[in-house]
Amino acid sequence: MKIIEKIDDMIRLRSQLAEPVGFVPTMGYFHEGHLSLVRQARAENPLVAVSIFVNPTQFGPQEDFSSYPRDPQRDLDLLEKEQVDIVFMPPVAEMYPPQFNSRVEVTKATERLEGASRPGHFRGVTTVCAKLFNIVQPTRVYFGQKDAQQAIVIKKMVLDLNMNLEIVTLPTVREPDGLAMSSRNTYLNPQERQAALVLYQALTLAQQLWSQGEKNAQTIRQQMTEVIQKQPLAKIDYVSIADAETLDELDTVKPPALVSLAVKIGSTRLIDNVVLE
Ligand code: PAJ
Repeated sequence: MKIIEKIDDMIRLRSQLAEPVGFVPTMGYFHEGHLSLVRQARAENPLVAVSIFVNPTQFGPQEDFSSYPRDPQRDLDLLEKEQVDIVFMPPVAEMYPPQFNSRVEVTKATERLEGASRPGHFRGVTTVCAKLFNIVQPTRVYFGQKDAQQAIVIKKMVLDLNMNLEIVTLPTVREPDGLAMSSRNTYLNPQERQAALVLYQALTLAQQLWSQGEKNAQTIRQQMTEVIQKQPLAKIDYVSIADAETLDELDTVKPPALVSLAVKIGSTRLIDNVVLE
């Protein structure tokens, strides 16, 4: 496994490799969600590259960039076991030198949900992904459905800017009790960890109502909201039922619809979603 920190070294290495490269961009602190992407990339490509970079430009000024969990040695051990070929882990100053003045921005799909709650977040994500794609020159790039809006925004960037690569989105990996795996789950104390189950409970309720024939999106949102409000440690940021492509909020559920929510459990903000098919 080659570990590369310099952009020039990564570009040089890539130019020597003719085979397709499967690429998994990450911010590290791996869990089974990340590893599911790595395994699929391994299964589908002769070469696999993973990036580990906690990207400062996608964190707001009041957000958790400096406290974001990091454990590069454990991450590298895990990637070695998955037989990854290349790990790209640049320092911040390598990706963003002082004279860095460019931004990549997707409009519209970034204006709601996570984009509305976290101004500038997606500009940071699209800018760093555009850079990573240019540096790694991947054939296929793997994203998790856990960050559904991120995958939608990246697909739009790739389409609009004619990037010659394929985006693959893979299902959300959950803990046995339903909590979506997330690096941020480590912030939860035992009481909050229990309370965090309310996200999955609300999403399961939405699926149940839909399968029983409920088509009124507001009725489903309302019932989800009531479930979450019963949990004293939970504070709702948003509960959304939206068109799974445009992210327009729906009055009447028309599949595929993305049911997504952001809820603060104590001081930890968690997101999750399901698709109504
Ligand atoms: P990070 O949060 O580290 O996630 C890396 C990838 O793992 C993303 O595609 C994310 O959707 C996926 N992932 C996270 N939790 C998952 C789960 N429980 N099941 C399946 N996949 C999961 O997302 C980012 O990093 C960054 O925004 C990045 C794209 C690297 C740009 O900085």
